[in-house]
This record gives sequence, C-alpha cells and structure tokens, in this order.
Amino acid sequence: MFRTLNTRLIFSHLAVALVSVILVYAFAGRAIFQAAEQQAENRLEDLAFATSNALEEPMHNFLEGEVSLNSVQVAVAHWLADEPELHYTVYLPEGTPIVDNMDATPTRASVDSAPEVLLALQDGIGEGHTIRYNQFGDEMFYVAVRIEHEDELLGLLRLGIPTQNVFAPARGSVSTLFLFMLFVVVSVGIAGWLLGRTIAAPVDTLTRTAHQFSAGDLSVRTTPAGPHELQQLAETFNSMAGRLEHNINQLRAFVANASHELRTPLTAIRLRVEALQAGATQDPQVSQRFLAEMESEIDRLTNMVNDLLDLSRIEAGMDTERYEWVDLAILVQETSDIFCVRAQKKGITLEQEHTADTSRILGHEDQLRRAVDNLVANALEYTPEGGRVFISLHPTQGQQGVQLAICDTGPGIAEKHLPHIFDRFFRISGTDTRTQETRSTGLGLAIVKSIVEAHRGRITVHSKLGEGTTFTITLPCRRDDTPRSQHGYST
Ligand SMILES: Nc1ncnc2c1ncn2[C@@H]1O[C@H](COP(=O)(O)OP(=O)(O)OP(=O)(O)O)[C@@H](O)[C@H]1O
Ligand SMILES: [Mg+2]
Repeated sequence: MFRTLNTRLIFSHLAVALVSVILVYAFAGRAIFQAAEQQAENRLEDLAFATSNALEEPMHNFLEGEVSLNSVQVAVAHWLADEPELHYTVYLPEGTPIVDNMDATPTRASVDSAPEVLLALQDGIGEGHTIRYNQFGDEMFYVAVRIEHEDELLGLLRLGIPTQNVFAPARGSVSTLFLFMLFVVVSVGIAGWLLGRTIAAPVDTLTRTAHQFSAGDLSVRTTPAGPHELQQLAETFNSMAGRLEHNINQLRAFVANASHELRTPLTAIRLRVEALQAGATQDPQVSQRFLAEMESEIDRLTNMVNDLLDLSRIEAGMDTERYEWVDLAILVQETSDIFCVRAQKKGITLEQEHTADTSRILGHEDQLRRAVDNLVANALEYTPEGGRVFISLHPTQGQQGVQLAICDTGPGIAEKHLPHIFDRFFRISGTDTRTQETRSTGLGLAIVKSIVEAHRGRITVHSKLGEGTTFTITLPCRRDDTPRSQHGYST
C-alpha cells in the first residue's frame, strides 16, 4: 500500500496534518468552551448582583411584614423580564424558597438541591456557582448571590440557565473550526498528492528511459523535469548514457576493426597452408617463399596483438607504479641519434632543439620513448626524400609543463582525416610505402595518444596538405618536486 512514492507522500502529509489538526482542535475547542463558560458566569453574576440590589428594599419590607410576597415577586419578575430562559429562585436566609419562576413546589436549599446557595452563604463576596443537573435532568449553570441590607442577610437569589444556551455559540464556533480543519486536512492531502506527482512523474520517466536503455536502445534520453535535484539526476543520466553510447560504439568499431585486421594475416596464412597441402611442397623454392611469408604474417599478427595488449595496459594505467624522473631532453637526443641513420638513408634532414632545464617530468620512460619513436617514425615514413623532420622541446607558457613538437615537411593530412587520426587501426590509404612484411597496423598514433593521456598530457595535430604535419605533445612538468617514493616513484 505504501510502496509508491506518491502514496507515501500523501499519507505522510495526511498523518502530519491530522495530528496537528487534532491537537489544534483539542486546545482551541477547550479554550472556546472555557471562554463561553467564563462569559456566561460574568453575565449571570452581574445580573444576579444587580437584581439582588433591586430586591433589597422589597425583601426588607416583606420581612418586616409591610408588604406581601407579591411585591417581591413583581420586583424580581420586573428585573428579569428580558431574560425569559432564566430560572430564578428567591430563598429566605435559612434556605426556604419563596419565589420560583419555573418550579411550583421548589425544595429547600441543601447541599444536593442548591449547593451554589450554600456556597454563596459561605463566600466572602456572597457568590457561588455550579454546573449540574436539575431535578428535570437538564444540565444547568447556576449562580447564587446574597440579598443584604446594611450587613443584614435578607435572603438569597439564585439564577440558572441551561448550559445548552450557554454553550450554543461555542458549539457553533467549534463546528466552524471543525469544517476549517477538515478543509486543511483535505488541502494538505491534495498538496501531498500534487507534490508526489511532481516528484514521482520525472522518476517514472527516468526509470522508463533507463529500462529502454538497458534493453539496448542506446540513443534514448530523458527530458529533465521536476525539482532541481531530479533535473540534475536526469542530466547526469543523459551524460552517462551519452558516454556509454559513445564508448559502446567505439568498442563495437574496435571489435569490428580488430577482427578485420586479424583476419587478413590469418587468411594469408591459411591460403599458403592450403597451397602447401595441395602440393606446393614439391617445389622447394615455392615452399620456402610461402614459409617465409607465413612467418612474416605471424610476426605481424604478434606485433598487432602485442600493440593491442600494450594499449589496454596503458589505458588501464597498469604501469603507473613504474613512474620515475625522465629527462625528455636526453630522450629526444637518443631518439634522434637512433633515427638519424634511417633519415640519412631516406635523404631527410633530422634536427632537434631543446631548452635546457625544462625537461624533467615524472613518467614511464619506456612508454614516453615509444611515443616519441612512433611520431618520429611516422614523420620519417611519410616525408619524401629531401624533406625535413624537426623535433623541438620547450617549456610551456608559465613553465607549468613541457611541449614536445615533431614537425615534418611531408604530404600533410587532409582535414577530413584529422578527427580520426588517433583512432585505432586508422590508416590513410595510399600513404603507406612499406613492403608487405613491414606493413603498418594503424595503431601507432592510438598508442601515442594513450601514453600522453596516461601522463595527464594532451596531444594535438596541425596539418596542411602539401605543407607538412606537426604533432604537439604537452606534458605537465614538476621539475622541482621530489618524487613520491611511497607511491612507488623513484629518482
Ligand atoms: N607525419 C605524418 N604525415 C602524414 N601522414 C601521417 C603522419 N603520421 C601519421 N599519418 C597518417 O596517419 C595514419 C595513422 O598513423 P599511425 O601511426 O597510427 O599508423 P601507421 O603509421 O599507419 O601504422 P603503425 O604506426 O601502427 O605502424 C597513417 O596511416 C598515415 O596515413
Ligand atoms: Mg605509425
């Protein structure tokens, strides 16, 4: 019953509203009845004292025997003519009733029949009041006062009014209060329902979208709605879905490319095995050539698988414990020394320049060397004879890092290829001048990018067809830091 957010919100709102309303109703109701009682008491007292004053003279004269009881009756009836609902009784000092407007045979004042009269006799100011049932079973509010003349007790006057009359306006007020409270409870319930809808509806939408997404529709997104937090949740879901879609698509493309790239050498090997089985072994020269070609395809496969494994290791950050201080200037110098023979063979000028004291960074030396090697190898590979390859190493602006640029005067890369240049297996057809044995895999730049990003760096490419290409690596540099040995770093 309370499982949905909406019902929980409605019931929690109703519960709080009901408790508050019951408390308010109880306290306010009590206060209203008390106020009504106080008001009635004051009114009856005022009336009783005024009437007792008016009765002073007739009572005195009656007790003296100068006038009959009738003049007392007339006087009291005259004073209370405007209060037809009042029950009044006049008692002699010892408790005998002499006048009563409702009871033809009134009983003598006693603790049971008129306790308020006894209270008025004992009270300092001569007043007593009670709420009790009369002999007819009606609940009455009674007030009794003394009738005195110059400190002489002449009698007592008692006024009574049905509590029904006293509390009638109070009951009206309490009924109005009850209706108001009912209105409050219903309003709070509706408010809870509306609030529940504004929260539950976006949550429902988000849940449906998540179900669709998990069922395989990677393009589905939700529209942020409802309170700020839920909008943020929806936006986070959308960005997470976007990233997942991108990553899954990349993964699919990678699997497709990898299968294709692996199938090519495998097919080549299979064709040669079939040829050998079909009788090519008869010719020692042909079988020798086929075996050599199979060996080179196997090497190629091995290289590709190794490259892929290295990529996974780098991307998973598995080699970070082997970080150490690497002097990039020395690394660049060594790379250029190694490649200068190849450059000379191709008739390419290979030059390098670096600023001293800018080159120490914390990183994985073998990986950094591999990144620089790949870029220089590409530059030499794709630059024609007579060209120039230039390696430069400088601090970035603000000395926060180092910038390593490998610039060539090769054919350049068309603008449409630039966004894909770092994708795995991406090659531009027609650019590869290598032989079957050394044919490229298209993983070189992907590995460079992974290495740079693993070092919290950035790689960019600027290229213009016919003019050349520049790859720029920016790496954060902490030249003055002491390596943190507790993280496995060493100097
Ligand atoms: N300096 C460059 N000048 C012109 N084109 C380049 C340059 N560097 C890379 N390219 C182009 O980018 C493609 C991808 O380069 P990448 O290094 O990733 O692969 P590859 O060199 O083809 O193969 P691998 O490096 O795995 O042997 C290349 O095929 C080439 O067409
Ligand atoms: Mg390459």
